[in-house]
Amino acid sequence: MHTYKLTTFRIFLLLSIYAVLSQTPKRQYTIVADFFRGIKAREFSIYDKSGKHLQYRIESKYHIFQKIELVSYPSKAVIGRLQANFKLLLYDASFEVYDEGKNQWSKGTINQNFQWLGANFTIKWNNHLLTMETEPISFTTNIFDNAKDQHELVATYRMKGQSLIWVKKYEMDVYSTEIPDSVYLLGLAARDHLLRTKKSG
Ligand SMILES: *[C@@H]1O[C@H](CO)[C@@H](O)[C@H](O)[C@H]1NC(C)=O
Repeated sequence: MHTYKLTTFRIFLLLSIYAVLSQTPKRQYTIVADFFRGIKAREFSIYDKSGKHLQYRIESKYHIFQKIELVSYPSKAVIGRLQANFKLLLYDASFEVYDEGKNQWSKGTINQNFQWLGANFTIKWNNHLLTMETEPISFTTNIFDNAKDQHELVATYRMKGQSLIWVKKYEMDVYSTEIPDSVYLLGLAARDHLLRTKKSG
């Protein structure tokens, strides 16, 4: 009886380990906010996991609302653009990213959904309907792809730092290759911007 239970427990343990392994990220980024930003929207350097190799920059234009570009390194090619629209209450932005697979630019939108606690955004891009969800008082944001009535985790990012408002660093894990990472990176920039310009979210 005792051995039986132990075996069951071991099988359970193995299954749990498989569950964790199947969620191994395909790509990981360390994302660091620039210190000086003047009146522009925040800018970021996006490194590989080691934090040593620059992969992208998020650069900001002087503009009354958030207007940013995602620049690929070392080529310095612009591969994404986002422009926030004026909204009194909820964040709303239009963006476009270069899809290398399709060799074309595709447009999308990011809209904040009303929620009392935490944050919830809908990201529409090229027939994909994503939700970007942050639990109340959480440092982790999950991005789900809701294609075909599923709710598949495609990326997640965590704030690293002492304060929710002055977070300087993020870590992002990407689990899917169907959507360019640019979409997730612009989503992070949108969420970060909202955190420092509004009380809610
Ligand atoms: C986020 O908003 C969408 C659209 O309003 C909704 O379907 C979803 O359930 C929300 N997610 C959470 C965790 O509240």
